[in-house]
Amino acid sequence: MHQSLQTNISQRETEVREGRGLPKTQIIGIAAKMGSWVCLTSGVGSVTVSGALPRRALSALLLQNPISLLPSYQFHHNRRRVCASASSGAKELQQQQYLRSPDLVALEYADLNLTDKISEELGHVRIRQHVNPLSSSLSVPVEVPDWNQVFRDPTLPLMVDIGCGSGRFLIWLAKRNLVMRNYLGLEIRKKLVKRAEFWVKDLALSNIYFMFANATTSFQQLVSTYPGPLMLVSILCPDPYFKKRHHKRRVVQKPLVDSIVSNLMPSGQVLMQSDVLEVALDMRNQFDSQPQVLKHIHEIDSSVLCDSEGWVLSNPMGIRTEREIHAEFEGAKIYRRIYQKQM
Ligand SMILES: C[S@@+](CC[C@H](N)C(=O)[O-])C[C@H]1O[C@@H](n2cnc3c(N)ncnc32)[C@H](O)[C@@H]1O
Repeated sequence: MHQSLQTNISQRETEVREGRGLPKTQIIGIAAKMGSWVCLTSGVGSVTVSGALPRRALSALLLQNPISLLPSYQFHHNRRRVCASASSGAKELQQQQYLRSPDLVALEYADLNLTDKISEELGHVRIRQHVNPLSSSLSVPVEVPDWNQVFRDPTLPLMVDIGCGSGRFLIWLAKRNLVMRNYLGLEIRKKLVKRAEFWVKDLALSNIYFMFANATTSFQQLVSTYPGPLMLVSILCPDPYFKKRHHKRRVVQKPLVDSIVSNLMPSGQVLMQSDVLEVALDMRNQFDSQPQVLKHIHEIDSSVLCDSEGWVLSNPMGIRTEREIHAEFEGAKIYRRIYQKQM
């Protein structure tokens, strides 16, 4: 086991034992996750699932989600489910309790320490299921910002996340690549953008910017005016719009693909994924239709593992998006492709 992880585990074990009033608690297992890890801690006749690194997440889980009972546990990779069965010799007490999907999101992003306190101006962030990207209010391209005001160094390579949702995924990446890259999140749900802006300010990050912008109408103007190279565009679990008459609302359409292709730097990449096969195939067809300029990563780098259908097996980003966490929790597969622009 990695030395620093081992040290963290020992520290956490001591904290749990001494600081949380759980005298006989000890950590009995570690479930490694992307970018973080979960400790399974046991007391006398009880098991508690406790959180990843930050103290706040750990104590919140200890208080809110005590999963009682059981000497043995299973961590299901796909369902991200911790099953607790009965304490020794008490089969009649058998029960199962599960971590909820939002808890897993909180764990995945625990090291960001994002505040739950939302500014007065923003109020409660109630998220409507969908916003129609074809509505007239979203048909006007947004004003291009002064990139010098937006990023500390606007010449750094840029990653754009189209339909960034809450923005946690992009904030996590920006925090890890402070002086190397800039990050731009485009999202049509205004309250999500406001909250993401609040978090960016709170964390004092100068390499990330969120915009309330319809990628369909604004992507081209935004990326073509950015002073540095466009190195990565991600479209992760876009809204599926299942009904045929709503397919035109899907974000990946030919003009957007053309714009991505023409603005990407040589060797720049596109990461697309969906937990809905039909949507993934739709996006794949669009990007596959430019074989002279865009090659799938598997053709370039055979070390990137794909299944027999050509879907990339693992997430290359080091962190899962929220939708990805929810989908995997439900047992869904993520259909993923990575394209690279030819020199
Ligand atoms: C299912 S969510 C996925 C969010 C995030 N990428 C994830 O994987 O957790 C899709 C997001 O895309 C946003 N969206 C849909 N169409 C868009 C468009 N044309 N431009 C920008 N954002 C869009 C939606 O508001 C929604 O937040």
